[in-house]
Amino acid sequence: MKKIFFISLISSLLFAHEGHFSKDENNGKLILKKPPESLKKYYPPHSEKFEFLSNMHTMSTAFYGVQLNINDDNWERALEWAKKLLETYKETAKMVPEWKDYFDFQKADNYLKAVESRNVDMVIKASQELGKTCAKCHQDNEIAVKIYYRFPNFEKIKVEDPIEFTEMKLEEFMKKLTNSMKALNVYLSQNNTEKVQEHGINFVERARAVKETCSKCHTREQEIEAITGKDYDQALNKLEELLNSDSVDLTEVKNILPKITVTCYTCHNVHLIPAKIKSALMK
Ligand code: HEC
Ligand code: HEC
Ligand code: HEC
Repeated sequence: MKKIFFISLISSLLFAHEGHFSKDENNGKLILKKPPESLKKYYPPHSEKFEFLSNMHTMSTAFYGVQLNINDDNWERALEWAKKLLETYKETAKMVPEWKDYFDFQKADNYLKAVESRNVDMVIKASQELGKTCAKCHQDNEIAVKIYYRFPNFEKIKVEDPIEFTEMKLEEFMKKLTNSMKALNVYLSQNNTEKVQEHGINFVERARAVKETCSKCHTREQEIEAITGKDYDQALNKLEELLNSDSVDLTEVKNILPKITVTCYTCHNVHLIPAKIKSALMK
């Protein structure tokens, strides 16, 4: 019984402090800062080994290794993991000099001493203290680093506009796509069939061109199909058919639009948010 209680107690303490946000500390705010220059050495294209991230996994595993072995009453093994944690913690501090103040070697040494002492209460206290140093840095930097280094740069994506026949940035193309859609809606509410046809056809062509961007990043057809699949193609074909008919049924045109715009939202939920954060961090 005692051991089970200990493991749940120590793991909740560790999770709380190694974690990303401790609610009391961030007060509903999330500030994202551009990661320091020296971190870039440990991410593509400079390195494919993800050395910094890999140290994070080593430390996290070692933390848990200590905990598991104390529960097994194997203090020798626990000490080995604690040494591994300390060593990696010190090594990581050297990797990013701009972040040296986040590391507290005194707390790391205390943690090792606590494991050496084989005193459970001291280990809990020391791991809590050390864990806080992890959590502080995560709170300030983890999300920004994940987006900055692990999400592609959408500003590099170019689209050939099928109406103006020029190549442009995705952001600019999105404005043209939206303007076609807004024009379609404006003339729909004014019952101006001719203009509805003109802008509606532009919208269909631009909405189809969006699909060309997918393959610049995705290689698996299922991923592209998951957002811009058959339903999307069919809705666009249907809209085109309606617009090309001799007497355009404006109500039908109105009804088909949500079947297309649902795709805009789905794609934005997945891509737009990180794309915008990344662009902001790159400035
Ligand atoms: C790849 C999936 C994708 C699809 C599908 C898509 N978008 Fe976008 N959209 C983006 C991304 C990514 C951005 C951000 C581009 C940037 O800022 O560099 C964006 C930006 C925009 C913006 C500019 C928003 C802003 O505040 O800057 C508008 C407006 C927009 N999209 C409208 C649409 C509409 C309307 C549709 C559907 C007809 C659509 N998009 C379909 C990915 C998509
Ligand atoms: C100086 C800043 C800093 C300190 C101190 C720090 N970390 Fe991290 N940690 C990061 C950053 C930045 C990331 C995000 C890296 C990424 O996703 O590429 C991260 C990510 C992680 C992750 C998630 C890895 C993943 O695959 O998403 C774990 C687990 C982790 N750290 C454990 C720890 C532990 C345990 C400690 C303390 C012993 C610690 N970290 C101390 C900055 C720090
Ligand atoms: C600039 C690169 C880029 C472009 C362009 C892009 N994506 Fe993505 N997409 C990503 C990244 C990065 C993720 C996150 C998952 C990952 O890392 O693979 C993702 C995730 C997804 C996901 C959910 C996870 C998955 O892999 O199934 C879907 C579905 C998806 N994209 C579809 C699309 C479609 C459809 C388009 C074109 C309309 C598109 N993407 C355009 C980079 C891109």
